Amino acid sequence: MTKLQLDGDISAVVLEQAETGSVHFNWIAQKALAGMTPPAVFQRLPASPDIPAGPSLMPEHGSGFHGIAQIEAHCTATQRRVRLGRPVLEDKGSSLCVTARDAALGIEVATAFSFSGDALVVNTTLTHTGNSPIDIRRAASALLPAPDWAAEIITHSGAWGREGHEERRKWDTGRIEQLGRGGRPGFDGGPTLSLTEPAGCEIRGRWLTLHLAWSGPFTLAAERATDGSAQILAERRFAPGEIRLNPGASMALPEAMLALSGTGRNQMRTTLNTALRKTGRTLVRPVHFNTWEARYFEVDEASCIALAKDAAALGAERFVLDDGWFKGRRNDQTSLGDWTVDTAQFPNGLGPLIDAVKTACMEFGLWLEPEMVSPDSDLYRAHPDWVLGWPDAPLATGRNQLVLDLALPEVCDHLFTSIAALLDTYEIGYLKWDCNRDLYPATRDGVERPGAQTEALYSLLDRLRAAYPVEIESCASGGGRIDAGIARRTDRFWASDATDAIDRLRIQRAAGLIMPQERLGCHVGPSPNPMTGRQLPMSFRVLAAFFGHFGIEADPARFSDTERAILKRGIDLYKAHRHWMHAGQLVMASDPADDPDVQIVISDDQSRALVRIMRTDTPKRPLQPRLRLTGLDHDTCYSLVEFALEGEPVEWPLGEYSGLGLMTEGLNLDPGRALTGRLIYLERTG
Ligand code: DGJ
Repeated sequence: MTKLQLDGDISAVVLEQAETGSVHFNWIAQKALAGMTPPAVFQRLPASPDIPAGPSLMPEHGSGFHGIAQIEAHCTATQRRVRLGRPVLEDKGSSLCVTARDAALGIEVATAFSFSGDALVVNTTLTHTGNSPIDIRRAASALLPAPDWAAEIITHSGAWGREGHEERRKWDTGRIEQLGRGGRPGFDGGPTLSLTEPAGCEIRGRWLTLHLAWSGPFTLAAERATDGSAQILAERRFAPGEIRLNPGASMALPEAMLALSGTGRNQMRTTLNTALRKTGRTLVRPVHFNTWEARYFEVDEASCIALAKDAAALGAERFVLDDGWFKGRRNDQTSLGDWTVDTAQFPNGLGPLIDAVKTACMEFGLWLEPEMVSPDSDLYRAHPDWVLGWPDAPLATGRNQLVLDLALPEVCDHLFTSIAALLDTYEIGYLKWDCNRDLYPATRDGVERPGAQTEALYSLLDRLRAAYPVEIESCASGGGRIDAGIARRTDRFWASDATDAIDRLRIQRAAGLIMPQERLGCHVGPSPNPMTGRQLPMSFRVLAAFFGHFGIEADPARFSDTERAILKRGIDLYKAHRHWMHAGQLVMASDPADDPDVQIVISDDQSRALVRIMRTDTPKRPLQPRLRLTGLDHDTCYSLVEFALEGEPVEWPLGEYSGLGLMTEGLNLDPGRALTGRLIYLERTG
């Protein structure tokens, strides 16, 4: 019996190979307990195969196992299906590898497990050294036995402007899937799926989250067989005929990332956020001003210069010129693809605006939607053959636009050159990279290759970032493309087009399960809110944006003097605390359905924290339970000060308490009125 162990910061993975060749996978939440796991045995069940075929790593069909197989593929010439042989285990020091081959066909599947902090990273590669091409119908990036305690599945659902609704379902027998067929992860949750036990909440219970680092079509699934055994799966979805491995070819499947917690969802969030931080750049997050909800398409030199001055006076540090600045673009019906400045609205180019932005000590950022083209554009008129579509069907537009076929090298070269021309001409430190429709149809000449589009997008982003020191925001009509794949080549996400502060609490919380908060743009929008019509006080709007990458997305000229003063005070506080907030960890002290919503950012060394309490509705009872904090150091004594955004004094002391006391006894605060927020600052004393 081979037994290998790999340790993360907190947990450990143990792989054991039985005499039959099956590989047991055990992930233990406390690595100190790894030695206590009993040797794995597959039980022989009545009316079942004589050689037990429970879920193992590299599972195969054809031996009585009817769950999910590692790979479904066949040899194109002979129709012979791929059949993996006995897996081989290897300890490679920082990773454990499991490899299985079909010796007759010459294809090998290799999965490497490693840890990034305490996140389990799974990389699977297919290598073909045989003589005939092999058609791959599907192949798992990560396919693991699910833990026996998993009784509920949590995914998220949503639509445009409504991202981040938690879907919690009882999981008994059968399969639950989270699918993405739209060519971008989508508003409905993206490639993430969590498992928990029935009482699992933010601060208690066992949890496991699975995420696929991939921005194209995906399948995430959890499947429990009638014998009680269960598997979890993450994989890139292949279209029919999309993947044919020729002799000598190899293919890396998208990376999967997992977190396990024995102490509530917060710990899992910390593990995933920490791993994601390591794949991104560490940046100071300047206060944004974005023109979209201030002007929509009505941007011109004079109005933008006025906005820039107003924004700078409030403390903005980066001015992002959103949609509407390029040739002929007055609405969403034209001009995508023509990435030159509109001379009617900006007769002197962008130079005067950028000068004004720089004079106001801000950086300049620009909106683009490079993957798209409007039928009414010079680009489309010159290259109608550059778009995806069926040769014999009407073009399927979405938001009046078509998708460029990025897999054509000339398309990406053209896009690189057009963007480079802007970056060479103007001082642009930031690009907001939008993508306002799904990929349909993802075909050229009837051949469907959605994955090639994602791969080409990744290469284009990599090429740009290698050539220019520009920061990039990933936006897809808001939160339509938030995943760890695109996170490696971008710096910020626009989590939703909903700037309504109440909706945003939910949306940021959901996206923040994977993404660290400093990468999630969160802006103070207008009131009434353009999407929901809701009127919310400025202080509430400021606090709702406070833990994310802060910004303003409204015309400051429409704010009252009081609102401006509140916003400015909020921005000053954000600037004073972002250096530690953005390296710290966000934990939840309330569950998603609770009111108030209570979230805490705790610094890396636990010497300080900010507690944000957002009351969205009138409390049901005048006497509320005490507010118990979480994530603090037990033995540290903290002084508590409340920051107020309005009125004087702006700070007042609430006393000194131990971390343990704050987490067990809690704070006795008044219940608060609807639509009010509080921000309490904790700092280690002595
Ligand atoms: C969708 C984005 O999410 C918005 O912020 C804005 O950039 C519009 N597109 C512009 O068309």
